[in-house]
This record gives sequence, C-alpha cells and structure tokens, in this order.
Amino acid sequence: MLILGAGYLGAALAELALARDHAVTLADNWYATDPSQLEGLRAAGAHVETADIRSRKDVDRLLADRPERVVLLAAQASRPLSESDPDYTEETNITGARRVAEAVAAVGCPTLVYASSLHVYGPSPVGEVGADAPYGPQGDLAHLSKVYAELCLRIYAERHGFALAVLRLGIVFGPSPVEHARPESQTVIDKFRRLAAEGAPLPLDDGGRATIGAVHVADAARILFESPWAPGVAAANVAAETVTVADVAALAGGRRPQGGASTTYTSPFTYEHDLAAYLAR
Ligand SMILES: NC(=O)c1ccc[n+]([C@@H]2O[C@H](COP(=O)([O-])OP(=O)(O)OC[C@H]3O[C@@H](n4cnc5c(N)ncnc54)[C@H](O)[C@@H]3O)[C@@H](O)[C@H]2O)c1
Repeated sequence: MLILGAGYLGAALAELALARDHAVTLADNWYATDPSQLEGLRAAGAHVETADIRSRKDVDRLLADRPERVVLLAAQASRPLSESDPDYTEETNITGARRVAEAVAAVGCPTLVYASSLHVYGPSPVGEVGADAPYGPQGDLAHLSKVYAELCLRIYAERHGFALAVLRLGIVFGPSPVEHARPESQTVIDKFRRLAAEGAPLPLDDGGRATIGAVHVADAARILFESPWAPGVAAANVAAETVTVADVAALAGGRRPQGGASTTYTSPFTYEHDLAAYLAR
C-alpha cells in the first residue's frame, strides 16, 4: 500500500496496515510533519520516502512498483494556513491531486482512496446528510479544494477504469504516531480537551450551535484500510456521530451534552469508538 501523506491519518493507517502484515510505503514532503515523527513506523517496517505530490516525477517514482492501492492523504489541510498560503494550498490540494490521478491512470494502478471532508456539504446542512447530498457553499480554500479534487479524481477514475473510493471524514480524534502541536492544525475536539484539562474556559462561537461529524482515528484508519468498500467510483461519509460544538464542550467539561444537532451525517460503516469515552475526565 502506498500512503501519500505521512501525517496524522497516514501514520495511523500505516500502523494498522503493518500490524496486519501489509507492506507500507509512506511518502511526504515534510510540510506539516517532521521525518523524525516516523521513526517508530520506520523501525516497524514502513518504507518512508520523501516526495511531493506537486511533482509528477516524484509520484511516478513512487508508483513504479505499481502498488495495489494508493491512499491520497497528502494535503494542506488547515483552514488558517489556507488563508496565509493560498498558493501552496491550491498547488497541493488541486494540482497535486490531479497529478496523482494522472500517475495512477498511467501506471494502471487498480485503486485510489481519497480522504475528503464532510465540509463538502457546506457549513450547516440540515437533516440527514448521506453521500448523495449536494455540495454546499465553502468558506476557505482548504475545503473548497476537496470539492475540486473529488470531481477531478472521478473524471480520471471513470476515464481510465480504476476504482476510486472517496471518504468524507468528520473531525478525527484520538492518538496517532504523528500528532501536530501547532494551533493551526488543532481541531475543536482536541482544543477543548486540552483547555478542559488545564481548567481553562471553553470559548463557544454562536452558542456552540455549529454541528460536526466526529470519528476516532482508529475507526478512520480501519475504514481507510478496508476501502474500497464498493466497486467503481463510490463516496461515503466517515462519522461515528454528529454533535454540536456545545456538546463537545459539555463532554470535555464533564457535563451532559444537550444534543439538538441540526444535521445527522449518515455512514455505511460500523464504529467502535465514541467521543464521550475520549473526552471523559
Ligand atoms: N484529521 C482530520 O480531522 C481530517 C478531517 C477531515 C478530512 N481530513 C483529510 O484527511 C487528509 C489527511 O489529514 P491529516 O489529518 O492526516 O493531515 P496532516 O496534515 O496530518 O497530513 C497531511 C500530510 O500531507 C503532507 N503534505 C502537504 N503537502 C504535501 C505535498 N505537496 N506533497 C506531499 N505531502 C504533502 C503534510 O506534510 C502532512 O504530513 C487531508 O486531506 C485532510 O484534509 C482530515
């Protein structure tokens, strides 16, 4: 398995794949992750390569062994960084994604798995939201580029006949061999967990009504590992539960969540972990 993007999710996926005796190559350009963070996985047998998905030459080199599966996790995933570095965000998330699709098609690799986001539905979809729901308005380039990449990868998959699994992830939480300390990369779940542990107040914008999907990294890694779950081109949500930001604050603060999320993200997968256990104090 070739994992493009050796960050938080890529490292968790590699750990799982190695535990199941799969050969793993992890590739990254070290934009958000430091190679030293991969030492444990390297010692456990992962091949760790330096490669930039903006470079077709780099991607071709990685694909020369024609892996059974390519998992595209390399991205500029942070909203604040997409505002300070829009060019890099577009070059990686848009051009880079297209170059990966071109290389996968050229080499005849059978399967591409792409990590997208529940944000493709917009900030506040209402009611039950399954993978057939329409795209919604976008507020930043990191998430807008997911819509482009999904549609672009689909073009190449249909034209060249490789399987494409698009997984729209909610906010992922829990321990991974690679975690990012910088505030730009922290999710509301980890921010509230840290603040609550420090006894600091948990700031709620708009009363915390915003709704998020959430999934533990172990569940997310297993679902990525087991993809594709359907033939051809398929998309699915990856969220064990849908909660409001106020619910996250309540759980982190040791209180009962009120519920009342305006959205429910539906998902075809099973989940073994939940937020309440992760945030329990
Ligand atoms: N973690 C979450 O909560 C979450 C939620 C929804 C979607 N996703 C998506 O899943 C994917 C992986 O997320 P993550 O949490 O592991 O992010 P991450 O930032 O930890 O990992 C992404 C990796 O890509 C690398 N990278 C950046 N630009 C690159 C380039 N040009 N070439 C090669 N590597 C490059 C970074 O150095 C980083 O190690 C992203 O596409 C992200 O948008 C993540």
